[in-house]
Amino acid sequence: MDLKTFHECTIQVVNYVMNYFKIVKDIPVSHVVKPFYLREFLPEEAPLKPAKFAQILEDFERKIMPGITHWQHPQFHGYFPSGNSHVSALADFLSGLLGVQGFSWEASPSCTELELIVLDWLAKAMGLPGDFLFHADMSQGGGVIQNSSSEAILVCMLAARAQALKDLRIKFPEKDDGAHLIKLVAYTSEEASAGVEKAAVICMVKLRKIESDRKCELQGHQLQKVISEDIMFGLIPFFVCATLGTVACASSDNLDSLGLVAKKQRLIWFHVDASYAGNALICPEFRTLLKGVDNVDSFNMNPYMWMNVTYDCTCLWVKDRFNLQEGLVDDPLDVMHKHPDQAVDYRHWSISVSRRMRSLKIWFTLMYHGIEALQAHIRNHCKLAKYFEGLVKSDARFEVTNDVRCGLVCFRMREQEQMTRELLEQCNSSREILMTPALVKGQYVIRFSVNAPHLTESDMNTSWDIILKYTDVAIAQQAKLHVISEKVAVDTEPFKITPVPSK
Ligand SMILES: Cc1ncc(COP(=O)(O)O)c(C=O)c1O
Repeated sequence: MDLKTFHECTIQVVNYVMNYFKIVKDIPVSHVVKPFYLREFLPEEAPLKPAKFAQILEDFERKIMPGITHWQHPQFHGYFPSGNSHVSALADFLSGLLGVQGFSWEASPSCTELELIVLDWLAKAMGLPGDFLFHADMSQGGGVIQNSSSEAILVCMLAARAQALKDLRIKFPEKDDGAHLIKLVAYTSEEASAGVEKAAVICMVKLRKIESDRKCELQGHQLQKVISEDIMFGLIPFFVCATLGTVACASSDNLDSLGLVAKKQRLIWFHVDASYAGNALICPEFRTLLKGVDNVDSFNMNPYMWMNVTYDCTCLWVKDRFNLQEGLVDDPLDVMHKHPDQAVDYRHWSISVSRRMRSLKIWFTLMYHGIEALQAHIRNHCKLAKYFEGLVKSDARFEVTNDVRCGLVCFRMREQEQMTRELLEQCNSSREILMTPALVKGQYVIRFSVNAPHLTESDMNTSWDIILKYTDVAIAQQAKLHVISEKVAVDTEPFKITPVPSK
């Protein structure tokens, strides 16, 4: 593609996007396609001859878009936000075109250096302690962008495992690593993300998922109890993962009491997965969540969720970058350069060797919006969640089941699990709204996440009206099922044997 054509095509894409954002609120939020629908629309093999760009864009609209779920739709309330901003997307566009890979400092110095700086900026904006910063006196720490939270947790668990094994090798030189590995135990709460489980499987260590308290928050004494039991059985605790903003109900573990317990054990690495709620720390009123952070070894959050940075982008900070690199260092000749001791080579901080220049989209976003606008965005979502909570509570048929502090409201129909399931099914199949379910302490709830940027109370009212409309449908549906099941019960009443009268 020559530059003139590139310019024309870019304008076509920008026009497409402009129109999309104009109409997205008026189209169904979700798709109706079935698995493998796309095979019917695309040829079995890649074309040998070129197509015109306009044709590709038309195919995109007719064939690909029907299978898209509209995450930026005002009635998209599923999962957590996939926050984006146009400025962040433009930075990603630039990053893609530069095609820079940052496996070493030398491979593109600004790729590495911008990442170090913007992660320091973010850490400061979130109130993380100075020892998580790269550019700070006496600090051994620093930040790095990972592909996902799950990978961030994995690299920390790998580092913790490497450290623990190193220590045990010195203490018990007669034993091999396998003998120690089967004794290593990681701990997290039952509400933690699946990423912790995946990391434990990959690291081949045991994982204890501890029951949290009534508010779904893990407390130090609950961790202590399980650790003590394990030690009694000769096991070796080596990793704890706490969560700020759990997937199911946005609850947050008690870092303060967990840290005190974790740090009593010499080998334990204490990680915090703050994928969602970590974003809110840029607002000082959320910093109570950080009480006890001094005992934390590593901390991750996803600015792609709640800070209007396009997906993907997970930020990870560690207090000791040299410990993080245990087990991840690789030095093939082709990536070596003249400054290995002064410069940072990010390939030692992650699973993949190469990396995109994702720091550009954080930098563009922070520069263009400024922290104050991002704080306003988070506060708006929290305020709207409270407003929605009020709507739910105003109808006696419903109850709110979580402590609404962030942008997530969990609710259900009072003591009516089947009806709650039916309501979610009716809402989602209408394609007017999209929400997702969760099981919290065994209870089925609907998660309503405030997601799209620039939402207002009027959007919350629209969503609530849709929910009320389908509540009536769900009730009618359940009543119909009840009548049918009663009829079936009558029709199939078992044949009764009349007892033979005794003489
Ligand atoms: C608390 C938490 N941790 C981890 C994840 C998984 O994130 P990722 O897909 O980046 O691994 C999520 C996703 O919603 C999450 O909410």
